Amino acid sequence: MVVSRLSDLPFQKADLLDMPAADRMVMTTPDHFDIQYVINPHMEGHVGSVDPVKARRQWDELKNAFESCGVPVDVMEGIPGQPDMVFCANQTLPFISEGGSRGVVLSKMHALQRAGEVKHFEAWFAEKGWDIVDDLFHGDSDFEGMGDAIWHRGKRLLWGGYGFRTDRSIYDLISRKLETPVIALQLDDPEFYHLDTCFCILDEETALIYPPAFTPEGRDLIKHFFPRVINAPEREARDLFACNAHCPDGKHVVIQRGCTSTNEALESLGFTVIEVGTDEYLKSGGSVFCMKLMTW
Ligand code: ARG
Repeated sequence: MVVSRLSDLPFQKADLLDMPAADRMVMTTPDHFDIQYVINPHMEGHVGSVDPVKARRQWDELKNAFESCGVPVDVMEGIPGQPDMVFCANQTLPFISEGGSRGVVLSKMHALQRAGEVKHFEAWFAEKGWDIVDDLFHGDSDFEGMGDAIWHRGKRLLWGGYGFRTDRSIYDLISRKLETPVIALQLDDPEFYHLDTCFCILDEETALIYPPAFTPEGRDLIKHFFPRVINAPEREARDLFACNAHCPDGKHVVIQRGCTSTNEALESLGFTVIEVGTDEYLKSGGSVFCMKLMTW
């Protein structure tokens, strides 16, 4: 079941099944990270501008930040010729079945320049014994993994963004295959081209969002499911990717340095802010959330 309007919601929040929250993550090394093409508005003017030494330092800092929260990080090697592979939230959607087995849905990248990344993730997960779901999407429909599809913390409920990199029709297939309801949110601003650029689940009750990136229907659904919503101000959301933060444990929030108002709001709700620099990656249209993949 895929829902895009509060008045169509056929279940209550209390009906949602529990699902273990992700407790580990994968990061892809940045050795081959570069900006060689423009596939989102943030990349414009930045081709060839990556400082590889700084990029490596920032990646290490991010990995340390996640590990300081007690989350094990599995490291996957980047591949030459795949300059966006460091954004490892996009190639798959990991899931845990109702029976407890682990699987991944492989993405069908909208960005053709990135299509070659997916097979490396397939091989990595297959080698570790995960179920590979690679037969869901046919024809022209696209899906960019956890860039657009994000599990509610601790619940069998998937939040699915669509409009730029992912097609809404994909969520009917995912909902059936993964036996999960999906809330499909239309994205409305090309600078917020993936759901993870404007929507960050902090804990079961709390989300950090940039409201203008959504339609009124989407905002109503978010408000319905999250009693506490932090609204990031425009500059922090657009320029600093405030909503691309990540809260791995319901307590600590890893976020790009300088999101002053967002951080005040986070701290007033009891979250501990961990600031990191992701400037080299912001030039490519990515930050904290897209540089890791949540797994179990
Ligand atoms: N340059 C990458 C792209 O446009 C950045 C991806 C960032 N990932 C994300 N989940 N927002 O595909």
